This record gives sequence, C-alpha cells and structure tokens, in this order.
Amino acid sequence: MKKDYSILTGITPSGSGEVHIGNYFGVVVPFFKMAKNAKKVYFFIADLHALTTIKSKEEMQKNVENLILSYLSFGIDTEKVVFYRQSDINSHSELQTILNNVTPLGLIKRCHAYKDKLQKGLKEDNVNMGLFSYPVLMAADILLYDPDYIPVGQDQKQHVEVTRDIADFFNKNYGQTFKLPEFYTIKETARLIGTDGKRKMSKSLGNYISIFENEKKIRNQIMNCFTDSKRIHPTDKGRVKENPIFIYHDLINENKKEVDDLKERYKQGKVGDVEVKEKLLKALLKKFSQQRQRYQELKKDPVIIKNILEKGTKKAQIQAQKKMIIVREKIGITNKYSLQI
Ligand code: ADP
Ligand code: TRP
Repeated sequence: MKKDYSILTGITPSGSGEVHIGNYFGVVVPFFKMAKNAKKVYFFIADLHALTTIKSKEEMQKNVENLILSYLSFGIDTEKVVFYRQSDINSHSELQTILNNVTPLGLIKRCHAYKDKLQKGLKEDNVNMGLFSYPVLMAADILLYDPDYIPVGQDQKQHVEVTRDIADFFNKNYGQTFKLPEFYTIKETARLIGTDGKRKMSKSLGNYISIFENEKKIRNQIMNCFTDSKRIHPTDKGRVKENPIFIYHDLINENKKEVDDLKERYKQGKVGDVEVKEKLLKALLKKFSQQRQRYQELKKDPVIIKNILEKGTKKAQIQAQKKMIIVREKIGITNKYSLQI
C-alpha cells in the first residue's frame, strides 16, 4: 500500500436502486477499510451513468434519493469523505468528451458492459451510446481526482484497467497528466453469489437481499433463496459448501456458534431450510439495525442531506476544476484568446 494514498469510488443508481449485501461486502467494506488511513477520500453517486438504463424521471429521483440515504446510513464520515453527485460536477462530462478522442474504439468494444449485451442477442441499434461509452465516463470520473486506489467489486476491475489504458494514451500523447489508479478489492467477497445460486448478486437481476427495505420484503428475498438443490426433504443430508444461504450466514451472522450448529444439523438432515433462513433474517436485521435506523432518521431530514452534498460538491469542484485547467492547457484549448473565468 502506498503512503498518503487517496481513494475514490462511485455507485450507480440503476436497477431497483436498492442496496444489497453484495454491494455491502463488495464495496462498502473495502471502502471503509481503505478510507481509515487514506489522505483523501471521494465517494459519489454516478447518476449520469444510470441514464444508460433508467428512462423515467420518477425512477431516477427515487433511486438517487435511496442511494444517498443508504450510503450515508453506513456511517460515511462526511467531514473526511468528499460526498457528491456526478451530475453536479460538469467536469466529468467535459473530460469524457476529451478522453473520447484518445480512446480506441476496439478497447471499448472489448468491455463487458457492451460485449455482454451483444452476446445476449441485443442488436447494435438497441445499445445506446451512453452504455457504449460508459467506461470512458468512468475513466473521467476517476482521472479528475488523481486517486491511487479504486475500491470496487470484481465486475468493475476491467473498467479500472481501461481507465489506466486511457490515462496512459493521454499521457503518452500530451505528457504526464494523469495518475494511473489501481483496482482494490477484498478477494473473498469481490463477487458475492446471488440468491439464484448461479450469477453474481445484482440489483438488475433481482437475485439480491436488500439491506434497507422493510422486513417483509427482505424475508421474501431470503425465503426465495436457492439452497442445496439436491436436498428435497429436511431429513435429507444437505451440502453446506457453496450453498448461498451458508455463504451469507458466514458473512452476516455474528453468532458463530449458531452458524456451526446449523451447518452441522444441515449436513445430518436435522434442520429445515425455513429455520436456516429465519435465522439469517434475524442475523441480518441485527447486524444492520443501527444503519436501518439511521436511514429512517436521515430520510426525515432533507436539509442535513443537502448540506452534506453542498459541502462535498464544493470540495470536489475545486479539485476537478484544478485538473481541468491542466488538461485544457495540455490539449491546447487554452491559448492567448482564452477567457479568464
Ligand atoms: P449492481 O450490480 O447490483 O447493480 P452496482 O453496479 O451498483 O451493483 O455496484 C456497486 C458496487 O458494488 C460496485 O463496486 C460493484 O462492483 C459492487 N458489487 C455489486 N454487486 C456485487 C456482488 N455481487 N459482489 C461483490 N460486489 C458487488
Ligand atoms: N461503474 C460503477 C458500477 O456500476 C460505478 C462507477 C461509476 C464507478 N464511476 C466510477 C466506480 C468510478 C468507481 C470509480 O458500480
């Protein structure tokens, strides 16, 4: 780990706009771990990125609000962390436009955001340019602030690598301008399995367990979770390894004795799925009780939220504008006729 490092991460208010345990272990935990000793910390809501899939004004507003409340409820220290919305800093879009010009088409065509859509049979006409150039906007989000590390889940690794490539193309052409960031993750939880037992947990796949939703909804999500598909009756011997419900227990349930006991009884065919799931629900509500309470309190106080965002935006803006002065100078947009604004 470098000395005096800075970190940056962003969250897209896409899909249902809910925060799930995959996000928590994949990004929140590594983010807090890194933030403790970091010199500078940036955390933002990537609302412009969500435009690729969200086409309804009401949905966008709801998702953005939900993510702001959720991530603040995890206890982000807004004295230290610069917390802001991407759309409040115009430089993100400006830098994306500039970086588009040093980014080879082929590099972006190889990115999974776009490639996966084609592989799923989507025609090019149904892929919008926002989705296609998603990695370039992400590179702009990052390079504006010179962070050393980007704490994100495994699915974002490729985007961080592309950011490095884009920074390198720019630096080679215009001279050293951008720092090359490094991907940071916690290996064991970088890709938490979804409740379908097959794919990565994701809000757009509907295979997730929420953190801030009401108890009834979370109970349903847990009750619908896949377990050992070969086990038909509670008296059948069950498999614990790679069983999503036990993966979640291991992460969430702080009562390790209870987890060991459930595993033992499951292996022997002495416990039903319902009991294992009920205990997971109880453990989840206990683990996140403070955060869930804070969410409700913050929701009642939009003034606090606005103040936090205002403070964060001002700080982010200063940094972004400083960087843009350098970039504009390097590419030759600044000249003797430039306006001094
Ligand atoms: P989702 O895939 O549910 O839409 P996002 O794309 O908003 O989630 O991801 C927000 C952050 O959470 C990213 O850093 C991403 O890598 C991480 N993340 C998302 N899903 C998982 C998962 N199943 N396991 C680990 N990290 C995840
Ligand atoms: N693409 C990220 C995601 O879907 C969100 C994001 C946008 C991001 N810009 C970023 C993450 C910059 C880290 C750094 O999760």
